[in-house]
Amino acid sequence: MSVTAPAPTSSPDPTQATDAPQSFSERLKAATWNDHAAAEHHGFTKALLEGELSLDGYTAMVAQHYFAYLALERVGRALADDPIAGRFHYPELERIPALEADLERLLGTDWADRVSPSPATRTYVARIDQMADHPEGFVAHHYTRYMGDVSGGQFIRRIAAKTYGFSDGAGVAFYDFGSLGSLPKFRSGYRERLDSLPLAEGAAAFLVQETRLAYQLNTEVLADLGRRHV
Ligand code: HEM
Repeated sequence: MSVTAPAPTSSPDPTQATDAPQSFSERLKAATWNDHAAAEHHGFTKALLEGELSLDGYTAMVAQHYFAYLALERVGRALADDPIAGRFHYPELERIPALEADLERLLGTDWADRVSPSPATRTYVARIDQMADHPEGFVAHHYTRYMGDVSGGQFIRRIAAKTYGFSDGAGVAFYDFGSLGSLPKFRSGYRERLDSLPLAEGAAAFLVQETRLAYQLNTEVLADLGRRHV
């Protein structure tokens, strides 16, 4: 199946093309974009984007998302009043209700008895849980998933809806951020929040490193799914 290429990710990074001082969001993106490429161009992701992933494979990915977002949203709520992480407490982003609806569509009403976290997801979840004591690290995990979902996730939504025939939106509700309004505006507002974080250099560097780790943990989850489904 032919897919419109997600050109922005393969273009030279515009954040490198200027001598102007980098904002923190630019620094974060530039420092982690190679890790993004590893997740984006993974064999499992490629099969998904090319419409060649089985419905079982797609369902397995949704199930793994479920466990990761349980942790992300649990820690996010625990840090809602934190001066750093609390700035990223967006209840309107929460994905668990959509994931539950998707899993019910994909696996039936007994879906909860039929899903379990893979070892790679358990490792990812353990790291997210540790971030309850490292608010800037939590921001890294929040950024890696939700900014991805409102960016490349929108390609996945269109492709999955077409590949598996989810014409009524059930099955791809996870990628539906209709309640946010304009996604480009949301993304720029999110970047402004990153830019206004009151972080000392050590904490800023930790956030960048943790984002690299978050990408790697996601890539491990994809690698495991790829071994089982591609
Ligand atoms: C499935 C294939 C993917 C495609 C086609 C894709 C595509 C894109 C595109 C086009 C952008 C740029 C959006 C913009 O600058 O406004 C983007 C940004 C982003 N993606 Fe992906 N992506 C994919 C997978 C992933 C994965 C697996 C993750 C994380 C696990 C991820 C995380 C992110 C993040 C955090 C950003 C925001 C970067 C920033 O602007 O700071 N993406 N993606």
